[in-house]
Amino acid sequence: MWGRNQHFMNTAIEGFSRLTKEEKIDWLTKNYTKNPESSKNVLAQYWNTEPKVQRLHDEFIENTVTNYYLPFGIAPNFLINSKLYAIPMAIEESSVVAAASKAAKFWLEKGGFQAQVLGMEKIGQVHFIHKGNSQSLEKFFSYVKPKLISAVRPITQNMEGRGGGITHIALKDKTKVMENYYQLHCTFQTLDAMGANFINSCLEEFARVFKAEAQAFSSFTKNEKEIDVVMSILSNYVPNCLVKAEVSCPIEALETGESIAPLEFAEKMLQAVEIARIEPHRAVTHNKGIMNGVDAVVLATGNDFRAIEAGVHAYASRNGQYTSLTYATIEKGVFKFWIEIPLALGTVGGLTNLHPLVKLSLEILQNPSAKELMEIVAVAGLAQNFAALRSLVTTGIQQGHMKMHLMNILNQIGADDEEKKVLIDYFKTRTVTHGAVKEALERLKK
Ligand code: MEV
Repeated sequence: MWGRNQHFMNTAIEGFSRLTKEEKIDWLTKNYTKNPESSKNVLAQYWNTEPKVQRLHDEFIENTVTNYYLPFGIAPNFLINSKLYAIPMAIEESSVVAAASKAAKFWLEKGGFQAQVLGMEKIGQVHFIHKGNSQSLEKFFSYVKPKLISAVRPITQNMEGRGGGITHIALKDKTKVMENYYQLHCTFQTLDAMGANFINSCLEEFARVFKAEAQAFSSFTKNEKEIDVVMSILSNYVPNCLVKAEVSCPIEALETGESIAPLEFAEKMLQAVEIARIEPHRAVTHNKGIMNGVDAVVLATGNDFRAIEAGVHAYASRNGQYTSLTYATIEKGVFKFWIEIPLALGTVGGLTNLHPLVKLSLEILQNPSAKELMEIVAVAGLAQNFAALRSLVTTGIQQGHMKMHLMNILNQIGADDEEKKVLIDYFKTRTVTHGAVKEALERLKK
């Protein structure tokens, strides 16, 4: 333990952010890597050769030393509300894009996906402590509410001009769960913006005016005038920023190409969804598969995948037990499969005008509104879940995974193009393991 601490003390640094990029890299590689020269080469390999693009990335965050690449792939043939899309996906997991493309193709021939936004409400809260009478606080709230709204007018004017803005401000008494704790619970429509900056700016101004006005409110006692604002921040739990996407077809059309009859396949899909509904262990993995599709598009379009993840999983537990985000029915011979998912997304602001690949992703998607992007992302999640369940209830997941994994292993062990071709064919009927592939390559080389 002493040794570890000593090492830590040796490498602590003051003013790291003020060093140049080269100095940061020198310090980092010298103190934290075994072979500084080769570490520097790895970092340099990922720099962009275009200085303007590299500067952009350097300035996205503090202390940038290089860029972190993810593959950027395309899943074509997505028919959504009668419009054909090629969906950009940024993801490292080998089978995701292939699975999305396969599901898109499957549903293309059956009328495609229907998607519909059910609401776009965003939420923000000012959390504060008020030591006093809650009726006086309510009186103060009625008095101050119009002042709050007019105080943020310089921030909201443009948004209001386009049909958005603040939709509601409520005072919430939370004293039953925490002593003297209240909230201003505010709802917003932020149109094509994800709205985090807009919402947080409004909330901080609400907090400032609320606190200042309380000081001058004559019905308050001396104690009541001291409103203690704890924090003002948007909520990533957005149960009313919701989108639904679905597919349906007559059962006979569910021909999978595997040796399973359409009705049996449909019934197994229903059982799989039911298991995810009632069993949290399975629900988490089921929803993880959905997020494979969701996050990949969220990332490609420059949106905040952490916000999406947090909101989605909170929504999946809204009734007290973590459950599936997708649903399935068989009624009158028709199989229906759908998703309902909260997605606070933006197509303006943030990285959307800044990051060249994000701009290109949005162009590929025909410059969607936030509403359309919600529909596209929900479809990507539904397609991914369909593809995963389809494999799980028929061939098992490993067949598809291993096909892609085989390529990763072949690259890792340095197989050339010809060897890859031979070994891909060889492993069509054999189990892929790292050892087996290595052995087969060695045999082939001999
Ligand atoms: C793997 O990334 C995702 C799956 O596990 C999803 C699922 O089990 O539904 C295949």
